[in-house]
Amino acid sequence: MKTLIFNGSPRKKGNTMSLVNELLKHLKGEHKLVDAYYCGIKPCIDCRYCWKNPGCSIKDGMTEIYDYIQEADNIIVASSLNFAELTGQLLSVLSRLQTYYCAETLRNETPIPKAKRGGIILVGGGDGTTTTAQKTAKLILKHMNAKEIAPPVISHNTDRVAAIDDPAAMSGIRELASFLNRD
Ligand SMILES: Cc1cc2nc3c(=O)[nH]c(=O)nc-3n(C[C@H](O)[C@H](O)[C@H](O)COP(=O)(O)O)c2cc1C
Repeated sequence: MKTLIFNGSPRKKGNTMSLVNELLKHLKGEHKLVDAYYCGIKPCIDCRYCWKNPGCSIKDGMTEIYDYIQEADNIIVASSLNFAELTGQLLSVLSRLQTYYCAETLRNETPIPKAKRGGIILVGGGDGTTTTAQKTAKLILKHMNAKEIAPPVISHNTDRVAAIDDPAAMSGIRELASFLNRD
């Protein structure tokens, strides 16, 4: 089983990563982690290469991620909230998924034949709501052919309680692992 995890937090030992690491303790198989702040993947520049061609005109670390997306059984979008959204840096990396949108809608292709299971992990200090970020994460997962998406794991009070000490989030992570590990 292969799991691809997009991490939108800049904090390597922060709340998002504490939940991701907890998930990894329970998850079967192998995984690949894309750290949006440190992976060096450039944003989509809307050059429109993918309006007519498969793949992307930008040749960088995303090439390997496109390959892993094809093979993956599970895809996770994990992020801290910034202004009630996924972090800008994560959205920047994920803008490179535009090639899949263009394949489906402009080139009438099926860019990712293999269906995935999807997971969402969100953390926030406690301001505002998580609704927008949840919707964005679901949309992004659908662009990667996630047919089944687990209930999001959310820790939205980290100004007071670290995600790792949030019992609801921790049990949510274990449920997410069981969902992803299912045959
Ligand atoms: C620029 C910025 C914007 C933020 N906006 C929100 C927000 O809208 N809602 C919220 O609950 N927390 C917000 N936070 C707080 C972080 O989401 C919170 O501290 C989170 O636990 C950090 O996760 P991490 O340790 O994984 O990076 C914001 C933090 C920063 C730096």
